Amino acid sequence: MKSSNSSQKTLSPADMLKMEAEILKKASDSEFEFRHLRRDDFEKGFLDTLSQLTVVGQVTKEDFEKRFDEMFPKRQEIYKIIVLLDKRADYIIGAGTVFFEKKFIRNTSTCGHIEDVNVDSTYRGNNLGVRMINILKEISCLNNCYKIIVDCADHNIKFYELVTIFQSFNINSVASNQRKDVCAGIVTRVDDDQIT
Ligand SMILES: CC(C)(COP(=O)(O)OP(=O)(O)OC[C@H]1O[C@@H](n2cnc3c(N)ncnc32)[C@H](O)[C@@H]1OP(=O)(O)O)[C@@H](O)C(=O)NCCC(=O)NCCS
Repeated sequence: MKSSNSSQKTLSPADMLKMEAEILKKASDSEFEFRHLRRDDFEKGFLDTLSQLTVVGQVTKEDFEKRFDEMFPKRQEIYKIIVLLDKRADYIIGAGTVFFEKKFIRNTSTCGHIEDVNVDSTYRGNNLGVRMINILKEISCLNNCYKIIVDCADHNIKFYELVTIFQSFNINSVASNQRKDVCAGIVTRVDDDQIT
């Protein structure tokens, strides 16, 4: 695939956030809201949901806010952390991250890395995981990623096959609508069951 970024329009950070907000709104409904992580989400169960994925450790509110401030808004172009809220409970019941690796190859292209995807165990099987992955894929395409990589344990490969991260997929990049082949998805397997 010949790749050139010269045809890509660069959106301003504010416009990018606006378009991401549209993606999130489109994926939300009367019961569930997908939105960016906020500074006050410590109280709303963000770490509880991550603790179903792996060891979170003893993260205090102060630790959480310090880490949040390191990332946002300073590095909001690199880190996209999406949370899923049960609107009635006003509580976070899922999360997913994509971050962007800036490269020199492929005409200074960008690779997306999907990480830390979780849906609370009592809500699984309701298509929320699929919706989360689709959001992360759309945001990656909006940010002109030429590929997306997911590291996952063997028992989750089936899920990523189902959400077609495993195969190449074609999504028209909103930021560069001349290029329909901008995104390709790749899952890299890890052997250790503890690694998600
Ligand atoms: C993986 C996970 C995010 C899926 O979320 P979910 O909301 O239950 O998934 P969905 O309801 O959208 O499932 C979509 C399809 O994938 C299937 N699926 C979900 N998880 C699966 C898994 N681990 N293995 C095989 N199939 C799976 C579902 O059965 C469903 O198939 P169907 O459409 O044929 O019924 C969720 O199981 C989870 O949080 N797991 C623990 C954390 C984790 O391992 N995260 C992955 C990090 S890489």
